[in-house]
Amino acid sequence: MNILVFYDERAMDSYVADLILQLIRKDPKAAIGFATGSTPQGVYQQLIQYYQDGVIDFSTVTAFSLDEYVGLPSHHPNSFQTAMHQALFDHINIKKENIHMLHGDALDMEQECIKYEKLLNEKQVCLQLLGIGMDGHIAYNEPGTSFQSSTHVVDLHSESRISSLGYGFEHLDEVPYQGVTQGIATIMNAKLLVMMAYGHQKAPLVKRMLEGEVTEKFPSSIIQKHPHVIVVLDQAAAKELEVPYETH
Ligand code: GLP
Repeated sequence: MNILVFYDERAMDSYVADLILQLIRKDPKAAIGFATGSTPQGVYQQLIQYYQDGVIDFSTVTAFSLDEYVGLPSHHPNSFQTAMHQALFDHINIKKENIHMLHGDALDMEQECIKYEKLLNEKQVCLQLLGIGMDGHIAYNEPGTSFQSSTHVVDLHSESRISSLGYGFEHLDEVPYQGVTQGIATIMNAKLLVMMAYGHQKAPLVKRMLEGEVTEKFPSSIIQKHPHVIVVLDQAAAKELEVPYETH
């Protein structure tokens, strides 16, 4: 596992955007897993900039998302689908048919999960961006989720629902009670995981994720078992770490 700690948040975003740029240059048909949440937003802005500068071409890239709320129409202003379109997809030349996102409003959620898992098996994700939730989740795999899990519907923990209040929902009762998410085994199948975290509030979570016991009680700890992981942190998020890391 490579742990990289950056002095400057912009440098952190550029580092990850450059990883994606290099990957696409090497393999223009790469499948990339994108994440929602606040953490990767700077990366997306940098990717849009690269696209506008003509240095990156997304026309043959395939995109997958990690998770979604269950019960919200896909085009709801607070859906993850809308968030990904607004943050990135609407601003680059990725083809609509190459964007694969979970639909939380599918009539049959079980079939939706099977269909998504099948697609992910057909096109292995080359690089999966990840953030860490305040209860240690990755995507919407809440504490207690099996490490063997595939794409599935989850009951969201109250901490995760409360975190959603920053993303368009004004009252807690508007936040869906369920999500649908790539499973932990699904995420672990990606060739490279890029985990990003910044800010003081993530510091104890980052410590537990990287130095703590690998346990289903703390889902993101599973990344310790992946053969190719790059952890990209700012100094605040890294401040409790005892393991060695590289500074940039
Ligand atoms: C959210 C999403 C995750 C995201 C994580 C971190 O609940 N379901 O996919 O990576 O929590 O969010 P943030 O980057 O806003 O801290």
